[in-house]
Amino acid sequence: MSDATWWRDGVLYQIYPRSFADSDGDGIGDLAGIRTRLEHLEWLGIDGIWLNPTMPSPNDDWGYDVADYVGVHPDLGTLEDLDGLIADARERNIRVLLDLVPNHTSDQHAWFVEALGSRDAPHRDFYVWADPSPQGGPPNNWLSAFGGDAWTLDEASGQYYLHNFLPTQPDLNWWNEEVRTAFDDVLRFWFDRGVAGFRIDVAHAIVKDADLRDDPVATPDDHPLIIERGHKQVFSMNRPEGHDVLRRWRRIADEAEPPTILVGETYVLDVDHLVQFYGGGEDELNLAFNFLFVHSPLEAEPLRSIVGQMEGLLPAAAWPVWTGSNHDAGRLATRWADGYEERARAALMMLLTLRGTPFLYYGDEIGMPDGELPPEGAERDPVGRRTGDPSRNRDPCRTPMQWNAEPGAGFTTPEAQPWLPIAKNAGTRNVAAQRDDPRSVLHLVRDLIALRRERTSDLVTGDYVALPAPEGAWVFRRGEAVTVALNLSGDAVRVEGLQGTVSISTSRARDGETLPGSTELGPWEGIVVK
Ligand code: GLC
Repeated sequence: MSDATWWRDGVLYQIYPRSFADSDGDGIGDLAGIRTRLEHLEWLGIDGIWLNPTMPSPNDDWGYDVADYVGVHPDLGTLEDLDGLIADARERNIRVLLDLVPNHTSDQHAWFVEALGSRDAPHRDFYVWADPSPQGGPPNNWLSAFGGDAWTLDEASGQYYLHNFLPTQPDLNWWNEEVRTAFDDVLRFWFDRGVAGFRIDVAHAIVKDADLRDDPVATPDDHPLIIERGHKQVFSMNRPEGHDVLRRWRRIADEAEPPTILVGETYVLDVDHLVQFYGGGEDELNLAFNFLFVHSPLEAEPLRSIVGQMEGLLPAAAWPVWTGSNHDAGRLATRWADGYEERARAALMMLLTLRGTPFLYYGDEIGMPDGELPPEGAERDPVGRRTGDPSRNRDPCRTPMQWNAEPGAGFTTPEAQPWLPIAKNAGTRNVAAQRDDPRSVLHLVRDLIALRRERTSDLVTGDYVALPAPEGAWVFRRGEAVTVALNLSGDAVRVEGLQGTVSISTSRARDGETLPGSTELGPWEGIVVK
């Protein structure tokens, strides 16, 4: 695929490195392990991988607390391993994206260690410091996404520092030009090593209100997730000034040879706001994750509406991105499909046929559901531990990849203790078993990806046009010649005006069927017709 459009035309795949493949039997996945599994990704038809954090970190938040932006975490390997992975992947036409965490560092980062030394330490202003409020206590009402105040008092200096996440994840001060320059260098360092781009952690949050104004309290008309948080985060994050930083990075990404891409974790809950992260279409993020879509129920009406809004509001040169699972929100086979395989199949057909770049999360291709919570006391996720709320624990969606039915699941050796428990269903739901079964979810995903390649002008670059559909169903045309009909409900529906041949059906039972014009779709059945 071309250097300019691989990310637009291809299918991307998110890998949680600690959980993908363990090459040295310590129970932790690593970069060398990923190298041994590239064959699977090539066979599936994947064009690019995004690796969750790979940089040195004390792992308070599993790599999202970076202690060194230009290294590799020793648990995962070395810089040479990463170079080797990039080179091996390139031979299979797979590009590698890293995770960049610019909003905050670890408290172990040399900058913060030094900043703590005194009020006039050279890197003090790399972070956001403020005096206590006049009544005493935190400077304003900002809340941490992980519970509690977003401020922690540094007793020695008498000032508070800001942390939108854990107290050990101090927020950087993006008003400081030196911070900006330091990150320009980080981007260039990795681009020079052949990294094809970055997924940018909390891309909507980087710049804070310069006056540290209080966030207004949420009101009943807000999205339920904003009401749950309690505040409209219009000052603690989501500042318009953040776009300056994205434009700056886009220039650096475009200057790289070959050009690289920026994919944002843009956690905003309205489409008007989301499309702003694309700037004019070609000057900010290449792709901005759509969390309205991720958090929508798997129902025709709300999904069609979100996609329709995106189609209407996105600048002409910009490109949508669709995903149903990630390392925070959970896996689509559980969240959307509630453990029912036919629902997961319909969801995967939807992701792979909409206009936009699909991102699969490792294991989606076998319909892997969330795993079990680790036993009490052995939880790994700081959010689960801090909140004590099992429903907020992110461990279950980070369990090891299920490669085969052996002890260790092909993820690690039979003797090793995996860092998170392998899900109980690994004996039956795994890559090896599904590769032998042409009707498996794995083959469905692979065949849908192959169909995108075969019919690029329809399924990749072709227009999206929503067609009339009965309640519970979603029918859309792609390009000139392909129609997708998805029944996202538990009742059979009759769809009119479907003429042609079924290329792929979610159950596989209808592949090749000729449709006379009207057809019934069984519960959760989807078909691609040409
Ligand atoms: C992002 C990451 C999440 C992490 C948080 C703080 O939301 O996806 O895993 O905990 O940022 O860095």
